[in-house]
Amino acid sequence: SPVVVAIDGPSGSGKSSVSKAVAARLGLAYLDTGAMYRAATVWSMETADLDDAASVATAVRAMPLVMGLDPAAPGVELDGRDVAVTIRTTEVTTAVSKVASNLDVRAELKRLQREIIDQESSAADAVFSGGRGIVAEGRDITTVVAPDADVRVLLTASEEARLRRRSLEVHGAADATAVDATRDQVLRRDRDDAKVTQFHVAADGVATVDSSDLDFEQTVDAVLAVVAQ
Ligand code: CDP
Repeated sequence: SPVVVAIDGPSGSGKSSVSKAVAARLGLAYLDTGAMYRAATVWSMETADLDDAASVATAVRAMPLVMGLDPAAPGVELDGRDVAVTIRTTEVTTAVSKVASNLDVRAELKRLQREIIDQESSAADAVFSGGRGIVAEGRDITTVVAPDADVRVLLTASEEARLRRRSLEVHGAADATAVDATRDQVLRRDRDDAKVTQFHVAADGVATVDSSDLDFEQTVDAVLAVVAQ
């Protein structure tokens, strides 16, 4: 029967790469909900006033967003444009927490996320997985979007490990200078995100996988072991 796997975690926990690998291994669809908040930020910058919560909410409700669910090539399209690169720019990363703290935006994205999860876990309607199911990852999937998921995992890592990974992603290096350049941004976003989502401590019934001392393959195996339980 179809399976829904929910994975939450903070920045630098390895959540996106691990979730993609788990989905690919199990033949499931993959949903990056962070990419949806990032796309909502791009769309709001283009069509609304970021300082006007009501205009942002209105813009996001009309956002022409299409999410690609293939873990080997997950896509994000806004109005037919591929925005996969745009959503990762520093400008968007800096603004995303503000858009994500808008409760009307959260309600709308939760609705879209539920729709995709329900679709992929239904044999009749599934677009990508043929009805086998989906891995959905983010900050509030185990608690708010899919608290009923078959498998729920919180992926954590020490602050040191998260900053090192994030620094490698953004600067291509993890020496002291690069890590310092990453620190402020990561910790500020953690703090801002923690006001609206709870992703530092596992909720009841959610399995914790700590990736601090695991490499990529070991982390994927640890999550697959939770799925197999
Ligand atoms: O860059 P990183 O992988 O840490 O974050 P992301 O998964 O791309 O998510 C970007 C931002 O979207 C987060 O910093 C949150 O502000 C927001 N987000 C959220 O509020 N709820 C989610 N389920 C996923 C992301």
